Amino acid sequence: MGVQASHPGASPVPALRASVTRFRKAIYSTPVIAISPARLRSRVEALARFGALPGGGVTRPCWSPQHEKARAWLLEEIRAAGLEPWVDPAGNVFGGLGARAFAADAPVVLTGSHIDTVPEGGILDGALGVLAGLEALQAIREANAARRLPLAVAAWSDEEGRYGSLFGSRAFCGKLDVARVEDMAAVDGERLVDAMARAGFDARRAGEAKAPTGAVAAYVELHIEQGPRLEEGGIPIGVVTSIVGVRRSKIVFRGQADHAGTTPMDRRRDGFLAAAEYALKARDLVVKHGGGRSVTNVGVVHVHPGVSNIVPARGELVHEMRSADAKTLENLARRCASLARRVARRRGVSVEIRPMSATTPAICAERVQAAIERACATLGLGGTRLYSAAGHDAQNLAAVTDAGMIFVPSKGGRSHRVDEMSDWDAIERGANVLLHTLLALAA
Ligand code: GLV
Ligand code: MN
Ligand code: MN
Repeated sequence: MGVQASHPGASPVPALRASVTRFRKAIYSTPVIAISPARLRSRVEALARFGALPGGGVTRPCWSPQHEKARAWLLEEIRAAGLEPWVDPAGNVFGGLGARAFAADAPVVLTGSHIDTVPEGGILDGALGVLAGLEALQAIREANAARRLPLAVAAWSDEEGRYGSLFGSRAFCGKLDVARVEDMAAVDGERLVDAMARAGFDARRAGEAKAPTGAVAAYVELHIEQGPRLEEGGIPIGVVTSIVGVRRSKIVFRGQADHAGTTPMDRRRDGFLAAAEYALKARDLVVKHGGGRSVTNVGVVHVHPGVSNIVPARGELVHEMRSADAKTLENLARRCASLARRVARRRGVSVEIRPMSATTPAICAERVQAAIERACATLGLGGTRLYSAAGHDAQNLAAVTDAGMIFVPSKGGRSHRVDEMSDWDAIERGANVLLHTLLALAA
């Protein structure tokens, strides 16, 4: 690559310091256009107030009242930044600079991310990409920087997948199975159609958000890394090469409810114990057959009827698997399905596997990676190529346009938790790389 990655054996701190010194020289001693770090920070802190938790962090699920207040706030900020605001039928919010809609004959260079969060999440996951995109477009507008193509920033609906993973960008890219919308529901049973209706949207019309072919010239998303690789390597910028695929299935083990005191141990058909055995064995299976880079998680478990003096009639879990390689993911899914059947047979229970969502691994466009690296070089910043172990809206956009991502280091690699954070200097650097990448893609 054109940009120097830090030497793997080198101490990260001096390497990062040298890179930052080069960056400060580039930004402050030559007239390169730059974002306003103070304005970006004040917007990040303002957005963090919607759904703020007393001990820090935020809970702002898509379509919730907090999310809808945040959407209204964002639309006001877009207007105040001198951009054109609009919202599509999937609830995606846009702010255009020279664009007010998507059309096949007027391709737009697009950036963005999401403003929904996981429960008890951090203030940067998604929010940073939206607000840095907004800031970059405002800075470009104010500097009247030269560009051939129009630009827009997006806030995609339900990236975190409370109702359906990457919902808004999926609809925008024509990948939403509209026939399934009626059945989509959160793990607590709340239906998507009801949640969207409460927010003033008709879920049945979400498919109308599909952008015309050719409407997006390129897509680039800034995001926190959410893992430890950049910080531990002392590298200010990550240039994303590919994004993992994620599969989620609900697995239901059905046994028999019985008296928890009087039923002899060898006669019990315990749905929970089957689920528990499956969870442990699936973990080992993915580690063994996942090629070293696959991961797995069971983050949702329900026990029915869920009282201490009844043997569980039913154990349900949501099993998630991720891999950067589509074939590996397919192979793991097959192996896990036969594992579930084996466990069920041995424990005298039945099992049902219900696929919930499946995203395929996506490759980032070489053209976008090269533009990010050129932006790093302009700013005197070191970068390294790396794959994304988290899912992102960019993986949907990659199916319809040249897409890429910029990562900035996460403190301690922490994310999806209330103390998720990045240094404000790291955020400033990432937002400036985004700005210069957008200018290059729009040139
Ligand atoms: C998105 O946050 C994901 O789950 O990877
Ligand atoms: Mn997330
Ligand atoms: Mn995110």
